[in-house]
Amino acid sequence: MAALWEDVLYNEPVIREAALLAVDAALLEGVLMRTEEEPNASDVVNYAPFTLLPSAVPSALFEQAYAVQQDFNLLVDAISQNKEFLERTLASTIKVDDFTAQLFRIYTQVLEEGLAQSVFLGINRSDYMFDRGVDGTPALKQIEINTIAASFGGLTSRTLAVHRQVLKALGKSEEASRLLPNSPSKGLALGIAKAWELYGSQSAVVMFLVEEVQRNIFDQRCVENELWNRNIRVIRKRFRDVFEKGSLDDARRLYIDGQEVAVVYYREGYVPKNYDLQNWEARLLLERSRAVKCPDIATQLAGTKKVQQELSRPGTLERLLPGHVESIARIRATFAGLYSLDLGEEGDKMAATAIADPDWFVLKPQREGGGNNLYGEELRQVLEKIKDSPERTSYILMDKIKPQPSKNYLLRAHSPLTVSECISELGIFGVYVRQGKEMVMNKSAGHLLRTKAVEHADGGVAAGVAVLDTPYLV
Ligand SMILES: Nc1ncnc2c1ncn2[C@@H]1O[C@H](COP(=O)(O)OP(=O)(O)O)[C@@H](O)[C@H]1O
Ligand SMILES: [Mg+2]
Repeated sequence: MAALWEDVLYNEPVIREAALLAVDAALLEGVLMRTEEEPNASDVVNYAPFTLLPSAVPSALFEQAYAVQQDFNLLVDAISQNKEFLERTLASTIKVDDFTAQLFRIYTQVLEEGLAQSVFLGINRSDYMFDRGVDGTPALKQIEINTIAASFGGLTSRTLAVHRQVLKALGKSEEASRLLPNSPSKGLALGIAKAWELYGSQSAVVMFLVEEVQRNIFDQRCVENELWNRNIRVIRKRFRDVFEKGSLDDARRLYIDGQEVAVVYYREGYVPKNYDLQNWEARLLLERSRAVKCPDIATQLAGTKKVQQELSRPGTLERLLPGHVESIARIRATFAGLYSLDLGEEGDKMAATAIADPDWFVLKPQREGGGNNLYGEELRQVLEKIKDSPERTSYILMDKIKPQPSKNYLLRAHSPLTVSECISELGIFGVYVRQGKEMVMNKSAGHLLRTKAVEHADGGVAAGVAVLDTPYLV
């Protein structure tokens, strides 16, 4: 297959002009990020990094990813309600991983008290790469599912218009018209609005729980604006604000600054550095409350790498989703090889295999946000060091996915315009709402394509490695 956009890819004057237009279009459309220097002010902002050109995505795999999203929603929701499964799966991990252990402590404490929350809202993003098989055929393989603070649904809703314009400027109107509509920010807001409505208090607000450092605020604002458009009030608070001003009444309704909170949408709280003692207390207060947490702590735990690995064991999906034969088949088809490093024969064998052949594996700790995984020589060294200690159980092993690279230009403020060898990762957003035992919404809510230069093994857009992209189906 001829590479996409080959006719213009090396035409320097044409590319240069297209890049100027692209950056201005991104600014006009609101594909924005605050600067590294001033991450908490909007006086001066940059465009969020993006590809000059859309990247090729095999249409069959794109459809497959959409087709399995509702199944993943069901699965995550089922795991979040299965205490026995979470307990058993995370038992070895929480012995050695303090962060997961602390989340787990809050989880059990809240269950012991009894849940006040009766409406549940899940917003997740299932990420995939296209693994090149021995015969060259690409296959859809899940990298992970993000069940907390899955981002870039807002900005990606605005990237499409930029790529459409670039293609038109390059004389490719027909191709421009083939780019698929995509608006995760609308889909996410729809879920939040439904949860707000079911909570049932007109005067209650939606609270975005945000980080201390808020570089990616515009991504969140896209979702906020959709809520304001529906006349739903949105407030932005940090853990610190919750600690200082949050309280529960007798019915465990959550109040902050005198305002009742219907929905807490976490864009924070997924890595250890988000927490000090006060923030853990704030987290506990939120979890104990009647407010709809997106996600509740059980759903956050359902998104751990350890759970992902356990799902790939024969029989696990059948136990979690009894009777859902077709869903299970669709889910399982996306799994790459995943391996436990728990102490025992199975873990010993996998550790030895990975040490002998590190380039075939990725070593993953229970962390989110990019830049935590280990590859190649580093993987070998770390595993060699911990292979006989319980510490190894804080990691899982995964087969390394090897996609076919393609060429593109990665546009980033203050960076030279050069062609890069790239690989892409496709994410599908999922949204669901459950009231008591009844699923009242279960949808896919749009997609996100992120592309990075092949020399980076790890990392997303926020980590400064990947950039926003738009799929061009082939
Ligand atoms: N099995 C894999 N094969 C190849 N690359 C991977 C694999 N797993 C992760 N990566 C790369 O590392 C990045 C981060 O891994 P991920 O599992 O998504 O962790 P995080 O929670 O930090 O985002 C991914 O975006 C992808 O680029
Ligand atoms: Mg990831």
